[in-house]
Amino acid sequence: MENSIIYLDNNATTTVDDRVIKIITSYFSDLYGNASSLYSFGNKAKIAIDKAKVESAKLIGAEPNEIYFTSGATEGINFALKGLAMHPVNRKKHIITCRTEHKAVLETCHYLESIGYKIDYLPVDAEGNIDLEALQKLISNDTLLVCLMWVNNETGVIYPIEKIGEITKAADVYFICDGTQGVGKLPININECNIDVLCFSGHKMYGPKGIGGIYINQSITRQNKIQPLIHGGGQEDGLRSGTYNVPLIAGLGNACEIAFEEMEKNRTHIEHLQIFLEKELLQIKGAFINGNRVSRIYNTINIYIPGFDSEIFIGVNKDIAVSNGSACTSELIQPSHVLLAMGLNNNDAMNSLRISIGKHNTKEDIQLLIQRIKDFINNY
Ligand SMILES: Cc1ncc(COP(=O)(O)O)c(C=O)c1O
Repeated sequence: MENSIIYLDNNATTTVDDRVIKIITSYFSDLYGNASSLYSFGNKAKIAIDKAKVESAKLIGAEPNEIYFTSGATEGINFALKGLAMHPVNRKKHIITCRTEHKAVLETCHYLESIGYKIDYLPVDAEGNIDLEALQKLISNDTLLVCLMWVNNETGVIYPIEKIGEITKAADVYFICDGTQGVGKLPININECNIDVLCFSGHKMYGPKGIGGIYINQSITRQNKIQPLIHGGGQEDGLRSGTYNVPLIAGLGNACEIAFEEMEKNRTHIEHLQIFLEKELLQIKGAFINGNRVSRIYNTINIYIPGFDSEIFIGVNKDIAVSNGSACTSELIQPSHVLLAMGLNNNDAMNSLRISIGKHNTKEDIQLLIQRIKDFINNY
């Protein structure tokens, strides 16, 4: 990382913890055996995978045999949705999700829609909350699953996963949860939430990119009700083939272990910075927070500031990494689909800024950001 960068885009990705880098490196250089080989060198790699399963499972209150490693949350989400929906035993064709989900969910659902599934996209209110009664009403005999995220990546809004789990359990439909922005930051016990499948990602919790995990409740795998996305050599009990990526798996496991041990410490530090930043920014005339101010994760601020062109701000302040949540495709800057779903117009969405704080940020970082925002407002 460039040393001069003030990095406040931790929902996009995090730096890799130095301790994690050490572990990863050792599996590239010294312990490079194939985990599926029988000789003891390979067995060391297998031990590393088993250890990573224990560490990942502990972070979410699961059993190690309920964890499967993927290339990240996008793959996990594809695997969960397609694996349940397209399994030959499944006869149900209805899926419920929400307009503010990550594109990994929305695009997979669009694909399923294109091949005959019926998808309902729940709306959200102005604060980004979903209506649980509306969810309840949409569930029918043909509903296979509900797919809703834990924490929104753009606004930090926390969804009521315990209540969603109660609804899905009572209706006997699966609950797939994209846990990418919550796992490692907030405590969770998977069984208390009745989540059937939970996806998470290494690079959102100071682990490496290109690795993630998926929790699948063992009742699903025992009854063989999910089919693999990737077929091949039969690794991961046949559910995710391909030679185990031992260095990254060991790195993810270590990142989970560190997140578990240091969660409270990180929370206290980050929350303190968030409260300070929010208080300062809300003094700007007309500014408001996008998203529920109470049910929101402690590291994310998505703020609307009147007349504030976030695109230009980001362009001008190249030494500060923040985001405006817009997707850059074909050189077209698009306003955030999450903010639009919450009722902002294109202009207001582009006048919004997402700041996501991480464990390495300092009060000086936050003070500098505040100064730059104020300077920008005065000069542009
Ligand atoms: C909420 C959410 N879901 C899914 C993803 C995709 O994760 P990955 O980069 O591991 O595929 C992200 C990453 O931006 C995310 O924030």
